[in-house]
Amino acid sequence: MIVAKDVSLTYQDGTQALKDVNLRIKAGEIIYITGPSGSGKTSLLKLILGMEYPTEGHLRVMGQSMVKDEEDNIRKLRRKIGPVFQEFKLIRGRTAFENIVLGMRFLDFTPKEIIENSYMALERVGLKHKRDSLVDKLSWGESQRVAIARAIARKPSLILADEPTGNLDLDNALNIMDILTSLRDENTTVIITTHATHLIEDKEEGTFIRIQEGRLKMERRGVEAYE
Ligand SMILES: Nc1ncnc2c1ncn2[C@@H]1O[C@H](COP(=O)(O)OP(=O)(O)OP(=O)(O)O)[C@@H](O)[C@H]1O
Ligand SMILES: [Mg+2]
Repeated sequence: MIVAKDVSLTYQDGTQALKDVNLRIKAGEIIYITGPSGSGKTSLLKLILGMEYPTEGHLRVMGQSMVKDEEDNIRKLRRKIGPVFQEFKLIRGRTAFENIVLGMRFLDFTPKEIIENSYMALERVGLKHKRDSLVDKLSWGESQRVAIARAIARKPSLILADEPTGNLDLDNALNIMDILTSLRDENTTVIITTHATHLIEDKEEGTFIRIQEGRLKMERRGVEAYE
């Protein structure tokens, strides 16, 4: 699913965000990435999404080589990825349902599938009752769940969630984590970054990556699940 070999990322201003990253992630894994502010968590997700390119080393995502020359193919690859990033804000003045439907534009879904998937996704995040509410009127936690629904309605092979629990209180943060954790199955890989190590320390299964100053340390729990 994802293979990184000696990947480094240095931004144009000379900031080295990631150093010698080696990584092999299989389809259906769940990966939790933690690390202090500025350690490189978002940068790693941006590489996987093709919003940045490695300045050294090689990265492959679902078989696609992540290099600038492959921009057109990388755009196609993104159809298989469901991003939950703060930059990809919900569209104000539209309902929760419309936001999810709009997230499925340009993908190969029939109108019927778009509607079915959108309902399914809203139900999955527990927001069926907010279907017709304007996103402007939703709480932060509800908005975040709409963003997750928008990602999962696309039926992605890979979900990338950057700091999805943000400044939520503990109950809501755990709820978001549970929703994201439940999405992983043999066909869906889930990668989540978080500051909040207390949200994941009890997890018995998954791949735990700690980033410190651009370098990765990995621990796998319950690995037999992946054998
Ligand atoms: N576009 C950019 N240009 C230059 N430097 C950048 C850019 N984006 C990020 N950086 C720098 O790269 C380093 C890693 O940033 P990154 O956003 O990946 O950290 P992070 O772990 O996601 O932090 P946070 O927990 O605060 O979100 C930081 O030093 C940051 O200032
Ligand atoms: Mg970040």
